[in-house]
Amino acid sequence: MNDLQIVAEALRCARHLVVFTGAGVSAESGIPTFRDALSGLWQRFDPGELATAEAFRRDPALVWGWYEWRRTKVLQAQPNPAHLAIAELARHVPQLTLVTQNVDDLHERAGSTEVIHLHGSLHQPRCFDCQRPFAGLADDPQEPAEGRRIEPPRCPRCGGPVRPGVVWFGEMLPEPALQQAFAAAEACDLLLSVGTSGVVYPAAQIPQLALQAGARVVHINPQPLVIQGVREHCLVGAAGMVLPELLARAFAGASRD
Ligand code: NAD
Ligand code: APR
Ligand code: ZN
Repeated sequence: MNDLQIVAEALRCARHLVVFTGAGVSAESGIPTFRDALSGLWQRFDPGELATAEAFRRDPALVWGWYEWRRTKVLQAQPNPAHLAIAELARHVPQLTLVTQNVDDLHERAGSTEVIHLHGSLHQPRCFDCQRPFAGLADDPQEPAEGRRIEPPRCPRCGGPVRPGVVWFGEMLPEPALQQAFAAAEACDLLLSVGTSGVVYPAAQIPQLALQAGARVVHINPQPLVIQGVREHCLVGAAGMVLPELLARAFAGASRD
């Protein structure tokens, strides 16, 4: 059997499936990834310039403008076949835990529920000073030009600047989300790692934990990744193509419960 057949069979028999996603799962929805050679966000911006609390203190309008640009990209985007296939998977396997590094809401808009967001969300801004959640974001913002400075809104309680609700470099990830993700990785029998370069920790530990705990781990990525274990596979291709194909092979003709 080739890798695709092996993985489809493992998916069909999975008891507890973890799906772990990165920016690549939203690439086919038109949202730039971070490190892709051509379209990667970091090619055009220095992370230290934008995705840190220090950068926000230094120039809140530059950082807020960048995230508003990203938020409009997300609002204009639609879930792609990869997001839809992942939502469909939950209807076929006894238990599915979805963990994402992404700050968009495309998994939720595709129908997935209980999504574990390790790096926060573009849709949960809060006050930089008193942490109060901010509810005043326009849901149809005018698309700012990439890199345009926009003064952040002010907190109605303390007047502090409103920041994006994402985890920045140097910040701690939400501990409950991280522990829930680690526990699922150690308990699952199959983990699909979809669209992540696997270079940012602690999120990147998740596939490794699953492999060490005896699960089968499958990377879905157009870039072939170096794999170590016998129970590790790399399906080279776009998530929007590979995931629907996997679903069809594993559950073709299966009743939709
Ligand atoms: P870093 O190396 O400066 O950061 C923090 C260190 O703390 C890292 O070694 C990280 O592994 C560790 N850490 C963070 N949370 C932890 C936790 N709950 N438990 C144990 N260790 C923890 O910066 P980094 O690791 O490159 O980035 C920190 C976080 O910021 C990462 O999750 C990164 O993905 C995130 N980030 C998010 C965005 C975004 O726009 N969503 C952009 C950049 C970075
Ligand atoms: N299908 C599957 N994978 C894809 C696709 C696609 N259509 N297009 C690109 N990819 C892959 C790329 O090959 C790359 O390996 O998606 C991955 C995107 O990697 P990154 O841009 O590094 O995104 P990610 O792994 O999510 O970054 C992790 O770093 O900057 C921080 O917090 C940020 O959450 C982000 C974290
Ligand atoms: Zn405040």
